[in-house]
Amino acid sequence: MKNFKFYSPTKIVFGERSVNQLGRQIAGKYKNILLHYGGGSIKKSGLYTEVMNILKEYDCEVYELSGVEPNPKLGLVREGVKLAKKKDIDLILAVGGGSVIDSAKAIGIGAMYDGDVWDYYTGDASVRGTIPLGVILTFPATGSEASMGSVITNEDGHRKLAVNHDILRPLFAIMDPLYTLTLPSKQTFAGIMDILSHIFERYFTHTKNVDLTDSLCEGTMRTVIKNAYILKKDPRNLAARSEIMLAGTIAHNGLLGMGREDDWASHGIGHEMSALYGTTHGRTLSIIFPAWMKYVYKENLDRFVQFAINVFSVSVVNKSLEQIALEGINSLITFIKDIGLPVSLEDEGLPLDKIDFMAERATEGGPLGTFKVLKKEDVIRIFNLAR
Ligand code: NZQ
Ligand code: ZN
Repeated sequence: MKNFKFYSPTKIVFGERSVNQLGRQIAGKYKNILLHYGGGSIKKSGLYTEVMNILKEYDCEVYELSGVEPNPKLGLVREGVKLAKKKDIDLILAVGGGSVIDSAKAIGIGAMYDGDVWDYYTGDASVRGTIPLGVILTFPATGSEASMGSVITNEDGHRKLAVNHDILRPLFAIMDPLYTLTLPSKQTFAGIMDILSHIFERYFTHTKNVDLTDSLCEGTMRTVIKNAYILKKDPRNLAARSEIMLAGTIAHNGLLGMGREDDWASHGIGHEMSALYGTTHGRTLSIIFPAWMKYVYKENLDRFVQFAINVFSVSVVNKSLEQIALEGINSLITFIKDIGLPVSLEDEGLPLDKIDFMAERATEGGPLGTFKVLKKEDVIRIFNLAR
């Protein structure tokens, strides 16, 4: 195990009707609130009205900024920064999924800076402060409700870049699984793939003696897979929705990565697909992860054998280690297909003529990953395995 720091200050308020506890999180502390949300799902579900009633009850001055798109854009962030500075916002309340939360995080740090907020994402400025952020999560997927990251797309030049800093971890996250019942199946399962991928990025490591976090990772993966199948048959199953919602936070708040070297190459490659084609984040991962696994499994066969046995219960009788490892990867591919996600660029209807360009962009800042360090040529081979 490696030495590590674990910092997860976000207060999680979880469960049915937990939105009622919004008032308690803000009472006496915040007055000028920027309510940030997406394209209208919160209005359809009734959550918007519920939140506004609470904010009125607590005499808050509410400024609204809606219209966050999936793969959130810099243009709206810049608008939010201006608004936050002008109105002296003291709390940003993000109501929605990862895109809304990431956009809110960007506004929070942008409002504390005189330059352009994009500087943080290019590495030209370092994060120093933020406006406090509260979250009401409607989509379990990215883990942004407790993570240290924000990922923003600059529509000018198709760049999708991340900034990571502990200051970006929200103050509180209200998580009511009832509000996830309105998620269309396409979103539900893309979110589930993202959750699994956050675990893969940590689980596939060369760090030795990580029994405890291995078990936590494997238990979380089994829980996600089991409940995904339940939701496939019964999308309104609230117990399964709750399990997935909790898993989404646990998968990316840092807990499962304690003491381990993590990877993140597949996320980096996927971001290039979203930047260029607007592909949904979880769908980039369902395409890239199986290809990445096929490309890297020989780097640490034992780890892939462990994955096959402990996550997919692959039988070991009369099989070589390599056969067991490959059966684990194939079980994942079966799972991805069962939940209706693409496993190839072709499945997603993506052209093949920009592979070289995406590989170049993905490795512009240096090679990707740690499990196997990937240069541009490796990324091209992974894309070719995902054709
Ligand atoms: O805009 P609205 O109308 O709200 O609709 C949204 C959106 O169209 C809809 N939706 C959300 N909750 C709903 C709902 N529809 C019905 N009922 C509900 N309860 O779902 C659509 C997608 O939402 P979005 O927020 O884009 O999805 P997600 O949560 O997957 O966020 C994706 C973004 O987060 C980044 C991704 O790269 C991508 O840009 N990530 C952020 C991370 C982080 N900050 O730690 C880590 C991740 O790895 C990821 O990179
Ligand atoms: Zn992700």
